[in-house]
Amino acid sequence: LERDLLARLDKANDDASLEALRIDTLGKQGSISALMKNLGSMSPDERKTFGAALNVLKDKITEAIVTKKAVMAEAALDRQLQSEAVDVTLPPVRPRLGTIHPVSQVMEELARIFGEMGFAVEEGPDIETDFNNFTALNFPPNHPARETHDTFFLDAKGEDGARKVLRTHTSPVQVRTMLKQKPPIRMICMGRTFRKDSDATHTPMFHQIEGLVIDETSTMADLKSVLIAAIKAYFEVDDVRLRFRPHHFPFTEPSAEVDVGCDRSGGTIKIGAGDDWLEILGSGMVHPNVLRNCGIDPDKYQGYAFGMGIDRLAMLKYGMPDLRDFFAADARWLKHYGFSP
Ligand code: PHE
Repeated sequence: LERDLLARLDKANDDASLEALRIDTLGKQGSISALMKNLGSMSPDERKTFGAALNVLKDKITEAIVTKKAVMAEAALDRQLQSEAVDVTLPPVRPRLGTIHPVSQVMEELARIFGEMGFAVEEGPDIETDFNNFTALNFPPNHPARETHDTFFLDAKGEDGARKVLRTHTSPVQVRTMLKQKPPIRMICMGRTFRKDSDATHTPMFHQIEGLVIDETSTMADLKSVLIAAIKAYFEVDDVRLRFRPHHFPFTEPSAEVDVGCDRSGGTIKIGAGDDWLEILGSGMVHPNVLRNCGIDPDKYQGYAFGMGIDRLAMLKYGMPDLRDFFAADARWLKHYGFSP
């Protein structure tokens, strides 16, 4: 029996089989216990030798089980320590940090540049009334000019019953500002704008920065000098080529569009040498009708306004060839242009 038990003990390699062995031998119905019960029917002599031997066996098995248990616990602890060991010499796994999107970065730069020139920052909603986006800005009612903006019209209607729109430009914030502030006004506004348009230099959602100055003296010359200073500061170079072209907007008169000299060779559009131009902004002297629509006396006040494409400013500065990539949410693109840690 002893040899049997010890052999079983040898094979018992987990807590459960050890416990089973203990019950099978030392438990109430166990083999040793059964032998103990037989002692009663033995002669005193037999009982003495057999009983003593049984006791020795019982102690031996008990001790063997306890020892084996301890050995197993220690081995388990060793295994655990080994598997959970930390190699402090390994390089750390760094969490992947997010980064500022180029558009957000350009917005921050522009807010700083215009902030230094005394412009306050205003805001307006992406969903605008027809009045703020068009009517107040001197777009004639039902005029095709509303269509030239490739407008996204919404089903929702404003108080005047006209369909609301996704703003096609940030110019409605001019209206909002003039309606709530008295001149002098000197503000910028940045945000999303929407037009049904998509190619390398157009995306249906894009960003503009609007500027508005209303006082008693500002002229087209002020407009020009502010724009030139801001664009040079933004591109961080002195020899930016700018081209002011006469243009038409319902809300400014006279009006000018401005192109930046750039290089479109090699599959990119980048500020600098080359014979190419990219339009980046519209501007002009605020039309008297707009002032009137916003409760400002055009005989006393005048001013200028401009609206610039922020995404285009970004592509020119960083040499990104396709505007659509800006909003494709591909982290490899950010990385490629150095916008990733
Ligand atoms: N809102 C015009 C556009 O998006 C730009 C502009 C702004 C022109 C202000 C003149 C004055 O095309």
